[in-house]
Amino acid sequence: AQNAKESLYIVSQFAAAFFVKQLWETDEGRGIGLSYFKERGFREDILKKFEVGYSPDVWDAMTQNAINSGHKLEFLEQTGLSIKNDNGKIYDRFRGRVMFPIHNFTGRVIGFGGRTLKTDKNVPKYVNSPESEIYHKSNVLYGLFHAKKAIRDLDNCYLAEGYADVLSVHQAGIENVVASSGTSLTVEQIKLIGRFTQNVTILFDGDAAGIKASLRGLDMILEEGLNVKIVSFPDGHDPDSYMHHVGAGAFKTYLENNRKDFILYKANVLLKDAGDDPIKRAGIIRDIVESIAKIPDQIKASVFIRECSSLLEIEEKILLSELNKMRSAKS
Ligand code: CTP
Ligand code: MN
Ligand code: MN
Ligand code: MN
Ligand code: MN
Repeated sequence: AQNAKESLYIVSQFAAAFFVKQLWETDEGRGIGLSYFKERGFREDILKKFEVGYSPDVWDAMTQNAINSGHKLEFLEQTGLSIKNDNGKIYDRFRGRVMFPIHNFTGRVIGFGGRTLKTDKNVPKYVNSPESEIYHKSNVLYGLFHAKKAIRDLDNCYLAEGYADVLSVHQAGIENVVASSGTSLTVEQIKLIGRFTQNVTILFDGDAAGIKASLRGLDMILEEGLNVKIVSFPDGHDPDSYMHHVGAGAFKTYLENNRKDFILYKANVLLKDAGDDPIKRAGIIRDIVESIAKIPDQIKASVFIRECSSLLEIEEKILLSELNKMRSAKS
């Protein structure tokens, strides 16, 4: 099985190199793929660092190239790079897309995300590699290989949603960033971050889905015993679009000045809908205490209870008794 796995790593690396070559050295790749990245404002050094590529818009260019170079179809199929249809015809999973190779944290290519260049709403924006012997999505964080040293050194991990976000945050000179890409955040991904730092800063999209994912994510992170802060972005921006919108310098400053702890974040998000309605406000307080109840460390939890008390002007005693009720209900 070790040999079989090794073969999957090898064909994945072959495909990554093929896509890179297509992007930089072919007319189609340069004219369509590279110019797309340039229009989005990506610098060449960032594109090279993350080994992004281009998959030609034909039926089976990658597969044929791999076979001609001596790679076995069996392994190409097992990674999901090549697909056999019902008639037995082989085709490439990724066609006419810009390609983001996904590395494991030792730097080996284990899968891909491919972004369409079409604006047609019926075409899926991203196609991703399927699960395989070497790619278990729930255990992978996009960008971790390139970020892990900075995460340790800075003792913080920025967590974004997407491939482009990771590249753009890097381009702004911030290297401690990863993305959950292609799956909603998992406990395994949080544990993986926990091997490098205890501090996570969520940078999810400033749309309804991103806010929902932030609320879910912060509870999961607290439950794993890590510390969490959240930066939210205005007007539906994500980290990628916001970085290009305001520029690298202003983006860095924005992250530094808009990092909220989870209490302030939740209060901001939830109070927006509640207004002055006292019943709704009570519900929000309970909601925040529910998050605090997820924190395994009692001392940390009590610090947040105090913050919640002063922020929302509720007696600490009442919050503590709520907290204890929730804790005993859990155990
Ligand atoms: N995603 C996916 N499949 C989709 C849409 C999204 O796997 N059909 C994943 C991708 O990893 C994507 C992430 O979810 O990067 C976030 O989605 P979204 O915000 O919609 O895309 P962006 O990353 O912002 O992509 P872009 O900036 O290129 O439009
Ligand atoms: Mn397995
Ligand atoms: Mn989004
Ligand atoms: Mn996005
Ligand atoms: Mn985006």
